[in-house]
Amino acid sequence: MAHALYPGSFDPVTYGHIDVIQRASALFDSLTVAVLNNGAKSPLFSVDERVNMLNSVCKDIPNVKIDSFSGLTADYVTKNGIDVIIRGLRAVTDFEYELQMAQTNRKLAPKADTVFLTTSLEYAYLSSTTVKEVAYFGGDISKFVPKNIEELIFKKYKKINE
Ligand code: PNS
Repeated sequence: MAHALYPGSFDPVTYGHIDVIQRASALFDSLTVAVLNNGAKSPLFSVDERVNMLNSVCKDIPNVKIDSFSGLTADYVTKNGIDVIIRGLRAVTDFEYELQMAQTNRKLAPKADTVFLTTSLEYAYLSSTTVKEVAYFGGDISKFVPKNIEELIFKKYKKINE
């Protein structure tokens, strides 16, 4: 049984993430998607909101579970007996950071390997940051995120701007 972990910020989850989740869930027996609770960043959505969003978009994928964590990914990996860390690679610009992270995680949690999935071409340009920027200025994000996530993003900006 191979248990994979897809860690990330998911602020918010996009079609790019969902593509990686679907493909990773088909490759491994079980997949945990875990939201990092990072005190150093100021996210748009709380950890609970991001977990709820992921639960809603993954509800039909039977071997996927959603979790959150604080601290090091490597500690989560060791504590939960994770075999594989999943990361999506969009472009060469992702590579240097991802390579460094994979090698650090391998030193800290030697039993786990990182597996990179190259993002499907139609989502190669997509990032949560871009989605937030387009939404902030009232642009159309319907091609970037599912309908329910789109509504939550606009609702959040409406609340912030009140
Ligand atoms: O979605 P993101 O922001 O690209 O995800 C980055 C994430 C959460 C995977 C990464 O920042 C992470 O693993 N943070 C936890 C802290 C950690 O383990 N740092 C050492 C890795 S070099």
